[in-house]
Amino acid sequence: MSFHIRRAVEDDAPALVELRRRLFAETSFMLWEPAEFTSTADDERKRIARLHGRANSLMLVAESASQPVGLLTAVGGELNRLRHSASLALGVARSHWGQGIATALVREAVAWSSTSAIARLELTVHTNNLAAIAVYLRCGFEVEGRRRRSLFVDGAYVDEYLMSRLAAG
Ligand SMILES: CC(C)(COP(=O)(O)OP(=O)(O)OC[C@H]1O[C@@H](n2cnc3c(N)ncnc32)[C@H](O)[C@@H]1OP(=O)(O)O)[C@@H](O)C(=O)NCCC(=O)NCCS
Repeated sequence: MSFHIRRAVEDDAPALVELRRRLFAETSFMLWEPAEFTSTADDERKRIARLHGRANSLMLVAESASQPVGLLTAVGGELNRLRHSASLALGVARSHWGQGIATALVREAVAWSSTSAIARLELTVHTNNLAAIAVYLRCGFEVEGRRRRSLFVDGAYVDEYLMSRLAAG
């Protein structure tokens, strides 16, 4: 099935809330437990506007058959000493896994970062999330370290890798 990647727009807000709800229910690899996610479409609309009002932040949507099926956010630092760095979060609906959507989203974020004075992209990922780690390694990210027992997921502690990708130069 084909897909395309584009920037989120404020009118995506209702569909993106639904997508987030779906992502949080489908896996335990993201930060929110399903019941903790209470954002409304209006919250999401404001979030899209806020991110796109900042040169060091971005929200991308992967769309298939006119529906959002993947989402990537890059949240840039707000203080002067952090503005060169952006933190990524990523999710693709289970129905669309294995089609290269996450790889395309991360590649698009990397391309954007090189034109946006972003010197560092960073993220954290569960150490057992092999599919996500494969995507990040393929896109030039490296493991910097391990955050031990940084999460408590479904009754057990989970370690995360801290990964980053530096701009050339
Ligand atoms: C991780 C995730 C984003 C990947 O999305 P996707 O669109 O399926 O990713 P892609 O199709 O671009 O690539 C996935 C790659 O992972 C690899 N992969 C899948 N399962 C794997 C496994 N168990 N071990 C190693 N590699 C694996 C596949 O080989 C694939 O590479 P390929 O294109 O060579 O076949 C998606 O599974 C997801 O949203 N998971 C839940 C949320 C999440 O984990 N988000 C990331 C949090 S940091």
